[in-house]
Parts: sequence; structure tokens; C-alpha cells
Amino acid sequence: MPCRLAAIGAVVAALAGGFAYVAGWLTPARLTAPRIVNQLQANAGVHPGYRRNHAKGVCVSGYFASNGNGAGVSRAAVFEPGVTTPVIGRFAIPGGNPYAPDNSVPVRSMALMFKLRDGEQWRTGMNSTALFAVHTPMQFFEQLLASRPDPATGKPDPQRLKAFFAANPETQPFLAWVKANPPSSSFANAAYYSINAFRFTDAAGQTRFVRWSMRPETAYAPLTAAEKGEKNFLSDELSQRLEASGSLRWHLILTVAAPGDPTDDATQQWPADRQQIDAGTLVIDHESSQEEGLCRDVNFDPTILPDGIRPSDDPLLAARSAAYALSFNRRTHEEAAQPAHANPTSNGAHS
Ligand code: HEM
Repeated sequence: MPCRLAAIGAVVAALAGGFAYVAGWLTPARLTAPRIVNQLQANAGVHPGYRRNHAKGVCVSGYFASNGNGAGVSRAAVFEPGVTTPVIGRFAIPGGNPYAPDNSVPVRSMALMFKLRDGEQWRTGMNSTALFAVHTPMQFFEQLLASRPDPATGKPDPQRLKAFFAANPETQPFLAWVKANPPSSSFANAAYYSINAFRFTDAAGQTRFVRWSMRPETAYAPLTAAEKGEKNFLSDELSQRLEASGSLRWHLILTVAAPGDPTDDATQQWPADRQQIDAGTLVIDHESSQEEGLCRDVNFDPTILPDGIRPSDDPLLAARSAAYALSFNRRTHEEAAQPAHANPTSNGAHS
């Protein structure tokens, strides 16, 4: 009997230990989603109901019209010829402050949720840079620490940032790219990149690694001096364009890796001669505020994917998924605690 009790006790202790480990209680230095999201909050403040990163944005919607070319690399229904897939999206700028001036960062973002037939979804969050600053989640966290505002100035300490970039030479290609590509004048004339690689499987079961991008039909133009002084020029300009033209278009370009191309490192671009497939046209034809629009209650977790697309071995993807879920959890709890907060009409985002 004592032996049996000891065995039961050992199982309970092992289970409790397992939970404590997963919760991070035994390894406080381990990088967890709460540490990342808490640091995002420490840098930008807590703005109840808003995303902890890319907090300032607008909801949009439209559809993706497939031309069938993507079916050569993925069996996902969204790539079948002639198929039109409804899309809920969001344009935003990085940072945790929903009231930041648009000129505070050189990057814009486009997040999309494709609603495929049979209830499948493809969610993606893309940035307007072709590559990312860091390779690992720990570097992302260290970059956040280095960017925290100096209490004396309210701005990041340039010396601390410089030291971070010097200590992490993987950041150099990103910094060079940003220097060579001035920010766009509009959400409409920017290209947006998946940056992370994904594993595509075609109807015959053959797999290939792919990065995708959305290339605008609207010609690129750099940010103007007048825009620099306008706090909300990105959303204001988007409304004006949609009112004037009714819709905006991008082409979904699938870039296929060659053997040996890095699939786990978002700081490295693939050579420019890789196969590129124009898989169809994204049409955005509606816009609404992020407080009331359909994107509000969507978590654009880049690992929610349809059959035919899977995550690669890029370590950023799992960290993104965990951090987005926690951010989503916090902001939707805050929304629920604010009875006056307008509820968007049901969007089926959680179904
Ligand atoms: C470890 C790396 C990263 C972390 C921890 C991180 C964290 C976050 C968090 C917490 C959010 C808010 C999510 C929400 O509440 O809905 C967010 C939003 C976003 N992130 Fe990241 N991110 C990472 C890397 C990236 C990368 C590589 C990209 C670009 C490919 C990216 C693009 C975006 C976009 C587009 C959004 C806005 C989504 C929306 O409009 O709702 N992030 N990120």
C-alpha cells in the first residue's frame, strides 16, 4: 500500500512539475509569450482593447480572385482556378501605441484572413519589408528591451539601440533594406511580404518552400514632406482612395525556394532569380474603423493555415503564434469588460 501511494504521489508530483515547467515557473529566464507581450506593454503602455503590437490600424475587406497558377505548388482550395475567396483584413503600423503618429515608423503592415470553402482559413500578417530584423524570438525580445523608452526623453536611447544592432550582425541586411527603400506614401502603394517561409504541398503530395508577397497595382511613391506632418495620413488617404476608386488591387506572388535556400531565417532574402508565380488578385473594396470593423476580433496568427500550406521550421512562427494569442486574449477580455465598447457585427472569425 505505501508503495502504491508513493507511486501515485510521484505521478502527481511529475504532473505538477510538468505544468510548472510549461508555465515557466521553474525557469524564470526562459523566453515565454508573457515576457514578450509584457515587454511590448512596457515599451508602449497598456491601451485596453488594442493589439499589443501593430496597435494602430484600420479594418478592410474584399476578396481574392485566383487565376489557378498557385495550384501548381499548393492544393489549397484558395488557389483553384476561378475560385473567389472572401477576405477580412487590416492595415496597420508596428508599435503598441494606437495613437502613434503614422510617421513614427517606416513599416506598414497588411494582415489577411482568407475564408476558404468548408470553413478552412488562411491567416497571414505581412510587413512592408522584404525581410525581418532578427532571426530568433530571443533577439526579438532583446530588440524590444533595447527599444524601451528612456524615462528622460520618452524615446529609445539611440546608444542602446546602436549597441543592440552592433551585437546582432544579422540585423544588418534589414537595416540596409530600410535605408534603400523609403517608406511608401500610402497603405495602397506598398508591397507586403510574408517574410517567414512556409511549406507548400501540391495535389501530387510534392512539397516546396514558399514565401509570398502582395504587390500593389498602385504605383509606389515615397512619403511626402506634407504627409510627414499629418498624424493619421495613412488611414485618411486610404479612405479617400477607396471613395475615389471603389477598390484597390494587389497581386499575390508566390516565390519558390531552390534547394539550400534558408527556410528558418527571416533575416536572409532568397536570390532574386527564384521562380515567381502570380497566383491571382487581391481586391480590397471596404474600409472601417478598427474599433467597429470585422478585423477587430480576429487574431491574425500566421500558423492558421489551410490544407496545402504548413509552417516552415522558422522559429519566429511559433513565437508569433503564442504572442498573438496572448495579446488577443488580453485585448478581448478588456473589450468584454467595457460595456460601452461597440460590438462589431458577427464575423464568424472564431468559428
Ligand atoms: C517573434 C517575433 C514576433 C512577435 C513576438 C510578434 C508579436 C506580435 C503581436 C503580439 C501582435 C499583436 C497580435 C494581436 O493582438 O492580434 C503582432 C501583430 C502583428 N505582427 Fe508580429 N510579431 C513578431 C514577428 C512578426 C513578423 C516576422 C511579422 C511579419 C512577417 C509580423 C507582422 C505582424 C503583423 C502584420 C501584425 C498585425 C496583425 C493585425 O493587423 O492584427 N510580426 N505581432
